[in-house]
Amino acid sequence: MKAAAKAHTNIALIKYWGKRDESLILPMNNSLSLTLDGFYTTTAVEFQENLTADRFYLNDRLVEGAEYRRVTAFLDRIRQAAGRPDAFAEIHSTNHVPTAAGFASSASGFAALAAATAKAIDLPVNEQQLSIMTRHGSGSACRSIYGGFVEWEKGIKADGSDSYAVPIAPADHWDIRVAAVILSSAEKKVLSREGMRRTVETSSYYPAWVDSIPDDLAAIKDGIAHKDFEKVGVIAEANCLRMHATTLAASPPFSYWQSTTFSIMEAVQDLREAGVPVFFTIDAGPNVKVLYLPEQEETIRSTLLGIPGVHDVTVSRPGQGVSYI
Ligand code: ADP
Ligand code: DP6
Ligand code: CO
Repeated sequence: MKAAAKAHTNIALIKYWGKRDESLILPMNNSLSLTLDGFYTTTAVEFQENLTADRFYLNDRLVEGAEYRRVTAFLDRIRQAAGRPDAFAEIHSTNHVPTAAGFASSASGFAALAAATAKAIDLPVNEQQLSIMTRHGSGSACRSIYGGFVEWEKGIKADGSDSYAVPIAPADHWDIRVAAVILSSAEKKVLSREGMRRTVETSSYYPAWVDSIPDDLAAIKDGIAHKDFEKVGVIAEANCLRMHATTLAASPPFSYWQSTTFSIMEAVQDLREAGVPVFFTIDAGPNVKVLYLPEQEETIRSTLLGIPGVHDVTVSRPGQGVSYI
């Protein structure tokens, strides 16, 4: 009754931003991501006879409150599916990624938790079923089941049975690099869940966001297939800016950006003007992810590290899907 799994985070090139069903975590739009080898979570789950409730340790700290309830509610579904509603577990998870800071810890966290829990409770699942199960913990997590480039198909069914991730191209398809620029590892004030809810409910820009997705998606998939870096970068950067614009039109308005976020965006655009192919994207947080090709690694690293307010730069290559340890 015990198992451990490892899952990497992923960075969305076409963002998931908004749910049509909050309880089943069904998105308004398809999204597309790249799994990253530089950030991951390992999670060990052990079901024990003597427990009357789950115990969840994150980075060696016993977790209580909302974070704990999110994990137990997630395990409830798996217990039900396995026909073991009274089985409780001790869970030890380690994030090799800042938690709740816009580096997608919810993606690697719930993908690793789903895989380890299903195995520990002896629930046989294929990758598609695992992706659906994982989605209930955090939407973006359903993409971390697979390595490389991954699309999350929003599905059309009300029960969510057709809303899961599908692999588009494996990690070894293309050596594209992602530099995660760390300004702040502090937990965000507006969690992704709350930020997208407020946007869907109140932002007058939200319908335009949803309308823009099909064209972006078709074009970026073509760019990935043909390894057209310029095309992929232009679309990813524009898609990110459009997502963040929706937050400014929410009520009350908000933004995940800080002043250093702007400095990095400017530096990327300056590099581009100087002839270096490089693009940025930003998730729900102030930190920036910079996309480039291997031959630009030194230029990119040294430029980013020279920006005041930048604490660190972590370079990722395309990463693998979930694995068992
Ligand atoms: P992020 O940008 O890190 O994905 P989110 O706001 O999407 O931020 O989610 C952060 C939340 O994800 C945390 O508050 C916690 O509830 C959950 N989480 C993060 N890491 C783990 C983990 N290893 N196991 C379970 N839940 C996790
Ligand atoms: C901006 O998957 O963290 O990073 O489904 O509520 O857990 P929940 O939200 P989450 O949202 C991620 C939002 C994003 C874009 C993306 O990863 O696609
Ligand atoms: Co998240």
